[in-house]
Amino acid sequence: MLSEALLVSAPGKVILHGEHAVVHGKVALAVALNLRTFLLLRPQSNGKVSLNLPNIGIKQVWDVATLQLLDTSFLEQGDGPAPTPEQLEKLKKVTGLPEDHVCTKGLAVLAFLYLYLAICRKQRALPSLDIVVWSELPPGAGLGSSAAYSVCLVAALLTACENISNPLKDRDAISRWSEEDLESINKWAYEGERVIHGNPSGVDNAVSTWGGALRYQQGKMSSLKRLPALQILLTNTKVPRSTKALVAGVRSRLLKFPEIVAPLLTSIDAISLECERILGEMVTAPAPEQYLVLEELIDMNQHHLNALGVGHVSLDQLCQVTAAHGLHSKLTGAGGGGCGITLLKPGLERAKVEAAKQALTDCGFDCWETSIGAPGVSMHSAASLDDPVRQALGL
Ligand code: MEV
Repeated sequence: MLSEALLVSAPGKVILHGEHAVVHGKVALAVALNLRTFLLLRPQSNGKVSLNLPNIGIKQVWDVATLQLLDTSFLEQGDGPAPTPEQLEKLKKVTGLPEDHVCTKGLAVLAFLYLYLAICRKQRALPSLDIVVWSELPPGAGLGSSAAYSVCLVAALLTACENISNPLKDRDAISRWSEEDLESINKWAYEGERVIHGNPSGVDNAVSTWGGALRYQQGKMSSLKRLPALQILLTNTKVPRSTKALVAGVRSRLLKFPEIVAPLLTSIDAISLECERILGEMVTAPAPEQYLVLEELIDMNQHHLNALGVGHVSLDQLCQVTAAHGLHSKLTGAGGGGCGITLLKPGLERAKVEAAKQALTDCGFDCWETSIGAPGVSMHSAASLDDPVRQALGL
């Protein structure tokens, strides 16, 4: 068990195309955002495990001795990751959550306990740790905040337990793990995501682990080696929604109307493939017409997502407001509220972008201009934590 403090970060993501369809085996194109989640892990010797999530108001402390009992009672069963419903029920009792409680806070605690127990149980004794996680990502907005949380937890716990090596050497300020260690982080993070979301496709944790831009299909991913510099406007409608419920809604619509819904998923797949092709072309032979194609793809996919039942009036409003400024938008992530993306073509007049941002803000939405393709999970030197951040976190 390492004795030093670890500072880890992982990015959120936006899905350009393929959300929901990816759950049904189709292609998704997803890119890492330059908005990140950070985790500081400090080994302790007070016999306690504490989890502090200031963004969502969680501060919980457990006695290692209590967790040790729980650990030996059921986690010895299997060797690999895979939370069984029985394990989760036992963990819910420790968190004090009601049986059917599914709020963000409860699920974040549940995922932590599962990952802590499952990863650290190979140690001679469960470690005493203090963990603080804070984020630039709004929770529940479709930007992969839960995946970034799971990826940070897993990377820190696996490193602290020396299951993977600390990539930070000597005076490095920042470093990344080997491909093999990233595989392991991604595999465990998927289990954290399963605790939170039920049956996710795995695209969110993959982007948060590897960063950049990924084509993802049925657990297989490939990095888009070169990506044109795309600027987007990211808008948070602030309408809360549950990914789990929205994914379940699409599944039941597919079961109810297979002949109608399956072709929609096939069409979304074709949109993702066309977008991938255009992005590839834009790197080698950029031309203004390619942005027009990207805009058309965005419009078509937004209509399909509405037909799948994952739209929302707030997202319609977002699309209308940006269309009034000549811009094209679609929801990103699970939909039902949450976030939308708007393509910002190069050479757009600054005044036009500012006017669109103001109109979106006037609707009560938050919006950021951002670039895409940030690095994946990274280890930072703990000394690089700024004083203002330390103060804000009460460290
Ligand atoms: C959520 O970011 C994306 C969905 O496709 C769900 C998933 O892939 O697990 C809606």
